[in-house]
Amino acid sequence: MEGKIKELRAQIEELAGKVAQIDELKDVRFKYLSKNGAIPALMKQLGSLSKEERPAAGKIINEFKVWATELFDKKEEELGKKALEMRYIKEAVDVTMPSKKSKAGHLHPVTLVRNELIDAFTGMGFTVFEGPEIEDDFHNFTALNVSADHPARDKQDTFYINDDLLLRTHTSPGQVRAMETMKPPFKIVSPGRVFRCDDDGTHAPMFHQMEGLVIDKNLSLCDLQGLLDTLAKTVFDKDTKTRFRPSFFPFTEPSVEVDVTCCECHGAGCSLCKGTGWIEILGGGVVNRNVIKNCGLDPDEWTGLAFGTGLDRIAMLKYGVNNIHLLYDGDVRILSQFRK
Ligand code: DAH
Repeated sequence: MEGKIKELRAQIEELAGKVAQIDELKDVRFKYLSKNGAIPALMKQLGSLSKEERPAAGKIINEFKVWATELFDKKEEELGKKALEMRYIKEAVDVTMPSKKSKAGHLHPVTLVRNELIDAFTGMGFTVFEGPEIEDDFHNFTALNVSADHPARDKQDTFYINDDLLLRTHTSPGQVRAMETMKPPFKIVSPGRVFRCDDDGTHAPMFHQMEGLVIDKNLSLCDLQGLLDTLAKTVFDKDTKTRFRPSFFPFTEPSVEVDVTCCECHGAGCSLCKGTGWIEILGGGVVNRNVIKNCGLDPDEWTGLAFGTGLDRIAMLKYGVNNIHLLYDGDVRILSQFRK
């Protein structure tokens, strides 16, 4: 019996010394200590010993079992510690390392300009009124006093869907729809996409405008000047000056084109303003009596002021973009420069 125990002890010491993983250790432990393992097997052999020999042999086997159990426990603790240390090393996080910067998106320059204008006008009591992008001939042309033979109706300028429907060529039909549906007096701005068969460095087939309309009593061109002055100072800077030049639009009478002092040279003259010190940014005027009548209001009772401006053009001037297509090619290297 003692010889056998000596042999088993040597085996256990050797195996336990070699194992590097807790799982392997468990296998070894199972081999010697489980119900059918080598040490309980020794116990079973006690029966074959004489009565006198049994107590001493039982004691030796028991001591051997305790020794083996303690050895496995100690070894298990050691391996557990080692495994944990390895995990600490492997999964270590260097909290001093700079983090990966996630790139936040931002608004498109045209959206920035649109939002600035909406902010300025809603601050003056205007509401935002959006019209549809697919319009009919009446709202896009006829109601706006655009004669049947006006060149703007030409198939070369307008995307027609059928004889009556078209992609709106300006945001002015928003005026008509506002007058048809809102109770005067009111003040609206109507921003949105517009479409024309036009494509070069400063024109794209899709671009953006913002229309303004005020319907009230006894309005005059002087009231418009105050509004547009605010517009110019909002999008450019507070020292920007405006000037009116006489013009013609079928929907306004009198009509004006509005220039602002050049945002680049502030009036001194440069290549952007072609040496004049002024840049045209919008058209407007007193709403033509015919338009007021066409929209179902009494022109003897109500007067109107209207203006329309190109948001892309303003964005290009403001941010120094010389080709409108740069705004729409979706190149983040360009667009990310206009983060606010
Ligand atoms: N609709 C004109 C255009 O697309 C811009 C415009 C001019 C709008 C005068 C107006 C206005 O409301 O009064 O060029």
